[in-house]
Amino acid sequence: MTEQLTPADLDWNNLGFNYIETGVAFRAHYKNGEWGPGELTTENTVTISHASPALHLGQQCFEGLKAYRTKDGTVQLFRPDQNGQRMMRSAEQVMLPPYPVEDFIEAAKAVVSANEAWVPPYGTGATLYLRPFLFGAGPVVGVAPGPEAIFGIYVTPVGPYFKGGLQPAAFMVSEYDRAAPRGTGAAKVGGNYASSFQAGNEAKSKQFADAIFLDPATHTKIEEVGSANFFGITHDNVFVTPKSPSILPSITKYSLLQLAQERLGMKAIEGDVYLKDLDQFKEAGAMGTAAVITPVGSITNGEEKHVFYSETETGPLTKALYEELVGIQFGDKPAPEGWVYKI
Ligand code: PLP
Ligand code: COI
Repeated sequence: MTEQLTPADLDWNNLGFNYIETGVAFRAHYKNGEWGPGELTTENTVTISHASPALHLGQQCFEGLKAYRTKDGTVQLFRPDQNGQRMMRSAEQVMLPPYPVEDFIEAAKAVVSANEAWVPPYGTGATLYLRPFLFGAGPVVGVAPGPEAIFGIYVTPVGPYFKGGLQPAAFMVSEYDRAAPRGTGAAKVGGNYASSFQAGNEAKSKQFADAIFLDPATHTKIEEVGSANFFGITHDNVFVTPKSPSILPSITKYSLLQLAQERLGMKAIEGDVYLKDLDQFKEAGAMGTAAVITPVGSITNGEEKHVFYSETETGPLTKALYEELVGIQFGDKPAPEGWVYKI
């Protein structure tokens, strides 16, 4: 049993990125070739066949998005349609029945609404994290998808993923690969994460915030962080983020590509980021729902350490990008059309 706290028990300004039971979740079942209606539930466990392919074969995928409390007390989601669409693509890759995007958005709204008291207050920087998941169930012994599936969402209040929030973090280049060149890297499937544990563990045991993965085919280009995409800002103010079929297509990344151009007048491109050319960048960062924007203070590759703007201070363009993004997410800045969904 998870200990049952109430929202009043929480120190909103000092939340970590850990599970706190909120009481209401969402579940939908796929059986006989169709999705059932789905419903809110107070169950925080699932009972499935021990022969379910999610357990043995990794037939599952998941998402991560956040609900934000605005200054006037309302609650909003950031681009949930994009998470719904990405989950459809992930599902297709592991032959799960896709959960329709409109139903995904409705489920996300319903579960946030039911847990409204757990959406952290405006000004604390904390948010309510939503973790949608979809997995194959029903008995399977061979290598094949399950006859049934379950879609669910749990929510939990969170603070910063990387300690310190907008504080530069140190990363370490991993010798391991996260995903294969023509594998599942672009899908948000659990196997990509289990296969990154050793690299992440090694980096953390050496006091780094996390591992950075290189492109699996040549090991010469930066691919991404274990939980976020990477960006660099060149000396002539170009925002550059790796383009690769084996990284997760980050919603934060596409948002920042647009904001860098439209709001900060920067050129913004997806391209190759060679490890040998890191000198071209005056600032660098990691970006994602959990990571938000975390400045990359340094990257260590074996004996070599490359420092970007500073190991202790955040660069001005990284800060400006952060303020635009977070301003939109918390409702302090106008959002581009369709980015914000009010609860
Ligand atoms: N890369 C990986 C491996 C991730 O797990 C995440 C988090 O979802 C991201 C990048 C960032 O993606 P997004 O901005 O959609 O959260
Ligand atoms: C996210 O940013 O939502 C992620 O999924 C990264 C990690 C916490 C799994």
